Amino acid sequence: MSVKEFFLSKNDIPKQWYNLAADLPNPPKPPLGPDGKPISPDMLAAVFPMNLIEQEVSSQRWVDIPKEVIEILYRWRPAPLKRAVFLEEYLKTPARIYYKDESLSPPGSHKPNTAVVQAWYNKQFGIKRLTTETGAGQWGSALAFACNIVGLECKIYMVRISFDQKPLRKTMMRIWGGECVASPSNRTEFGQKILKEMPDTPGSLGIAISEAIEEAVGDKSGKTRYALGSVLNHVMLHQTIIGLEAKKQLFLAGEKKADVIIGCAGGGSNFAGLSFPFVCDKINGEDIAVIAAEPTACPTLTRGPFQYDFGDTAQMTPLLAMFTLGHGFVPPPIHAGGLRYHGMSPLVSQAVKEGLVTPKAYHQIKCYESALLWARTEGTICAPETSHAIACVIDEAKKAKEEGKEKVILFGYSGHGLMDLLGYEKFLEGKLSEYSLPQEELQKSLESIKHLPRAD
Ligand SMILES: Cc1ncc(COP(=O)(O)O)c(C=O)c1O
Repeated sequence: MSVKEFFLSKNDIPKQWYNLAADLPNPPKPPLGPDGKPISPDMLAAVFPMNLIEQEVSSQRWVDIPKEVIEILYRWRPAPLKRAVFLEEYLKTPARIYYKDESLSPPGSHKPNTAVVQAWYNKQFGIKRLTTETGAGQWGSALAFACNIVGLECKIYMVRISFDQKPLRKTMMRIWGGECVASPSNRTEFGQKILKEMPDTPGSLGIAISEAIEEAVGDKSGKTRYALGSVLNHVMLHQTIIGLEAKKQLFLAGEKKADVIIGCAGGGSNFAGLSFPFVCDKINGEDIAVIAAEPTACPTLTRGPFQYDFGDTAQMTPLLAMFTLGHGFVPPPIHAGGLRYHGMSPLVSQAVKEGLVTPKAYHQIKCYESALLWARTEGTICAPETSHAIACVIDEAKKAKEEGKEKVILFGYSGHGLMDLLGYEKFLEGKLSEYSLPQEELQKSLESIKHLPRAD
């Protein structure tokens, strides 16, 4: 077996992003304001700059990538497409397994694909400072990296459990000039309230988002905005550069089409980025299975209702039409911090609702076993989030073997796990257990959003 990698030249980088909203059979449902009516773009203006709000509400199929943004993306893009020949050999599968390697960006994941874009548009709009949340720390370090490039200040609220488990992510943020605090914190009114009610809480992305938004809208100078690393339409849009590159590279590899596309899904961005250009082909009649892999501990797509809900715990965001576990949900402290979000991108949710995407949930033990097999065959150590995609890839490769079919499987290698070794260590010591969200806990969380409108 020899290594197989497929590179694009700088000239081949996509010049436009793809917007799935233009092609979904039913248009995504609009966000609603507190009065239950669709919000107008200017209602988001205290939180995001208008140039990004325009992208958020756009139904245009193709959106130009500014030349200056492409210049920044060149620092690590186009990203290579690789074939997992050693895993294929181990599994003795007739499937050809390809992966888009997003772990080679400076912060180590797909997150800078949107971080640099958001930072650039904010800078164009005259903003001086961005606030954000981070789960595993990948997004926070990506935004710190991006703000450093374009010249913005950056403040990051990091979910406490990850802050404690991954202290070196915080160091990365500081290296790029970002300020990182554990959430809930005593820096915001909402953080103080949560700390009073639940002093030992591991935190959640929903709480950290509330703190970051509170700080952004509280800046009376009007020069601070908030940036989100996933969930929103403009974030999905920016990430489609992954799938657009991958399509060209599969062609270089001699493949006519992909049969199975797989990504892990937290808020949905790396999954959407890889899969949406292929979902477009599926809408146009191509036979492709598209699978979103999530944890059984935070089973948003597989067990949550499709319903309007807030994006954050303090209910500061508009109501979004999405699969959700309830904005008050505090997920158990599993090691894939980036997959511990209560909601899901409205675009990904709509694609699931329309039967274009199939969700599957995986236990963390199976995910770590898959990550170890990956490391011992392909050699690299993946992020715990990425291991969910790998668990699904292994299942699909085994299925192809059983069926005797030469399938082409493409998945998103969303990040490396070199800052996540504590989780690996606990797994190797046998200290991790399988965990599925108990039904009573889910019911309890959903009780608090019962009064909000259904999205279906
Ligand atoms: C490496 C990696 N993969 C996946 C995710 C999940 O996020 P998303 O669903 O937005 O891609 C994260 C989030 O932090 C991450 O760090």
